[in-house]
Amino acid sequence: MPDTIGDRLRKARKRVGLSQRDLARESGVSYSLITKIEQGERQDARLETLHRLARVLDTTTSALVAGDASQGPGIPAAAPTAQWDGVRAALADTATDVAEAPTVRGVQAAVDAVTQGYRGGNFTELATLLPALIRDTHALADFAPEGAALRMRALTMTGRLLTQTRQYDLAEQALDRALRHAPDTRHAVASAPAPDEARELLDRLGAELLDADAFLFAVPMYNWNVPAQVKTWLDLILNHPRLGVHGDWPLKGKPAVLVLSRGGGYGPGTPKEGWDYATPYLRRILAEVFGLDLHVAEAELTHAFWNPEMAELRGLAEESLRVGHEQAAEHGLRVARLCRA
Ligand SMILES: Cc1cc2nc3c(=O)[nH]c(=O)nc-3n(C[C@H](O)[C@H](O)[C@H](O)COP(=O)(O)O)c2cc1C
Repeated sequence: MPDTIGDRLRKARKRVGLSQRDLARESGVSYSLITKIEQGERQDARLETLHRLARVLDTTTSALVAGDASQGPGIPAAAPTAQWDGVRAALADTATDVAEAPTVRGVQAAVDAVTQGYRGGNFTELATLLPALIRDTHALADFAPEGAALRMRALTMTGRLLTQTRQYDLAEQALDRALRHAPDTRHAVASAPAPDEARELLDRLGAELLDADAFLFAVPMYNWNVPAQVKTWLDLILNHPRLGVHGDWPLKGKPAVLVLSRGGGYGPGTPKEGWDYATPYLRRILAEVFGLDLHVAEAELTHAFWNPEMAELRGLAEESLRVGHEQAAEHGLRVARLCRA
């Protein structure tokens, strides 16, 4: 069984019948770096580099980083601390001198891809990708202003993820480091926009809704309600002259799917029945204020997949996820048919 990144790279390269020089030419990664990785001289290739290699080799970046271990289905039942050793090492590593300089585009793409992985809940894969991402964003922040904001995103996502998997000491390190670098991202922190900017923002956000034929809203529950960002967005949109309460209902009857996820459970008879303020609020706004033709797909008890204290609820969580997927597929088909008609 190949177990180093070099072994995996060589195996993937041979599988598609490329020489090291072919691979270098097609991926744009230097021949010398490819040979060094394959010979085990470099274990810390940039995520961006691995992504370029993976594309040519018709495999995934995480398969190169972690092999089969990265293919696990989502959240492990009890995340072993050792799984996060790579993240621990990357958080401690503050070196920024690198053989291959990362690019803003490459790192941006890597941050977006890892954010997708985060949303998909594949924690095993994230544990393998985050160390390289933390190093890449740190190196980039050293010479590109955009790097500071990307580093902030990578570190706060790492902190959130580690909090959810109860690796609190590491989460603190990640968030601490994000805070330490916060002054670098001053320009990216939103302050109250000036009136002209606010109007422009409202026009832009409103146009996004007015131009759409169908809608997908994906909203997790945060502290028994919608996330503050969603509330802020709605507060803005409801000021729009056409979309707000005094508007002319331009979205009336358009198809919309609302996808909801909740870490806990709030059904009838549960201890927290009635604590879900997110779902009724969103239904009210989307269906009654905007007048959308709203269909809901929801999954709850999502934290049962990783939280040992909720282990006995895993069966219910699986059932909820199954129903949620069915609802999503049904609504998705419906919207697609309507849009095609
Ligand atoms: C800041 C925060 C607050 C949360 N509060 C709740 C909550 O009050 N009730 C709940 O059921 N789940 C709560 N959750 C869990 C999310 O609803 C759950 O993780 C969701 O399935 C996925 O969203 P995520 O991918 O952003 O974590 C919270 C999560 C976060 C990050």
